[in-house]
Amino acid sequence: MVDARPSLVEELVASGLAAREARWIVEEYAVGGDPDAAAAVRAAGRRRLGGEPLQYVLGHWPFRGLDLDVDPRVLIPRPETEELVDHALAELARLDEAAPVVLDLGCGSGAIGLAIAQELAARGLGARVIGVDVSEGALAVARANARKHGLTEVSFVRSDWFGGLDASWRGRVHLVVANPPYVGAEELAGLDPVLAHEPRGALVAPDHDGVAGFADAAAIVAAAPAWLAPGGALVLEHGDRQGPAALAAARDAGLEAVDRRDLAGRDRVLIGRRR
Ligand SMILES: C[S@@+](CC[C@H](N)C(=O)[O-])C[C@H]1O[C@@H](n2cnc3c(N)ncnc32)[C@H](O)[C@@H]1O
Repeated sequence: MVDARPSLVEELVASGLAAREARWIVEEYAVGGDPDAAAAVRAAGRRRLGGEPLQYVLGHWPFRGLDLDVDPRVLIPRPETEELVDHALAELARLDEAAPVVLDLGCGSGAIGLAIAQELAARGLGARVIGVDVSEGALAVARANARKHGLTEVSFVRSDWFGGLDASWRGRVHLVVANPPYVGAEELAGLDPVLAHEPRGALVAPDHDGVAGFADAAAIVAAAPAWLAPGGALVLEHGDRQGPAALAAARDAGLEAVDRRDLAGRDRVLIGRRR
């Protein structure tokens, strides 16, 4: 389609878009010789020029082996969260359970839980994956992404962290994986303005014991041991200045804990194991 409509790409570039983004927008919207395609491309270009993230303008974005639908009801999945999935899969491999129970807390688009389900299935392994979010909008997106990828065995529950979960799961969860909001309200102002388009409830958390944005992570760490099976693991993404607080919280909760760095060398992922 790009070749057939080079003038549309040029038009978007002339209006100020980067060439790569202009090509992606034309590929997305200029489909099938639709007479309204040019109007759709121009409208999408205006959204992007207005500051909306490219991922929302395109309406989908890759995450590991998934092509996730994304819209302003959900956080745009980040590359560092792809690394979180590697840590989660390593914990499941260590546990070597035939049918592990996995809770994806704050599932958003479903990125983490769906990637785990998809990658285990590709290896002929199974898991009972439950995505949890407090936002009905996020859960609707996650359910649609599960259907899109044929991962209909993944279930979704509306809950405030563990608060609304069926008590019968206590002590039976093999893996709790979470990428909770962890940006402090004051920090947000200094970050990329494009973040203003993402749901604030997916990004910002209250401070905790003087640690900016740490309250949701702290609540998850404190509650996790009661839900984990013996030997089960909490794998939690946190802010790059929250590593010491995450380790201390995990040890206070009685977990055996280590903190892992991302590819850029920043403390990013807490791994806490129930003894
Ligand atoms: C940083 S986003 C992560 C989304 C997705 N897991 C990912 O990694 O792309 C945090 C998610 O936690 C959800 N959330 C915020 N507070 C919550 C709470 N109290 N209980 C459950 N989910 C919550 C938000 O709605 C949001 O979808």
